[in-house]
Amino acid sequence: MELYSRHIFPRLMDWVMSGEAFQRLRADLLQDARGEVLEIGFGTGLNLAHYPASVSNLSAVDPADLLPHRVSERIATVSFPVRTTQITAEILPYPNRQFDRVVSTWTLCTIPDPVQALREVARVLKPEGTLLFLEHGRSDDRTIAAWQDRLNPIQNVIGCGCHLNRPIDRLITQGGLRIAHLDRFLLPDVPRIAGEMYRGRATPFPA
Ligand SMILES: C[S@@+](CC[C@H](N)C(=O)[O-])C[C@H]1O[C@@H](n2cnc3c(N)ncnc32)[C@H](O)[C@@H]1O
Repeated sequence: MELYSRHIFPRLMDWVMSGEAFQRLRADLLQDARGEVLEIGFGTGLNLAHYPASVSNLSAVDPADLLPHRVSERIATVSFPVRTTQITAEILPYPNRQFDRVVSTWTLCTIPDPVQALREVARVLKPEGTLLFLEHGRSDDRTIAAWQDRLNPIQNVIGCGCHLNRPIDRLITQGGLRIAHLDRFLLPDVPRIAGEMYRGRATPFPA
């Protein structure tokens, strides 16, 4: 399993998730990134190429150190400072109200305690800051959702902790954020159980 999770899965993930449809979605979401940005679940740094010039610096957290050579090469191509830290998003070592934007792409499916991580996101966002999210999750179609529940244990193993069936909008609200905008759509050319997308923006509730 160690061979799979350390060597095979990261390469597979990097290859699949750098596909054209994924790149377009990343670019679209990150148009609104600016100022001090925190990215949770940084993975192999596939968002780096899509951050606009309005980003002043990026703090990136992930408990795994995936494909470090490839990540360093990607970091070397951007014009703003990037600081990577190998930690989980459930306990963030940042002061309250530090970040203008927090970015989460295909990460809330995998974090063991996503509500706790979102509480931390709400804490470290400035009052006028925004969480930009792009996630797959639970279908509103009962038949699809039932298949997501059935296949979730298998996905958990092959996706190294990934869940098919998380209701992303509900988790965001439970984490203490208000959803300002939400798009639901299907990812093209992906089986529907893994392609039910949640894209949008959320803001901290006023104190
Ligand atoms: C499917 S990958 C997505 C990677 C990246 N966000 C992207 O868009 O390509 C999920 C990522 O979540 C990370 N992850 C797992 N548990 C986490 C946690 N507790 N806190 C933060 N990230 C976590 C994994 O290591 C992995 O890099």
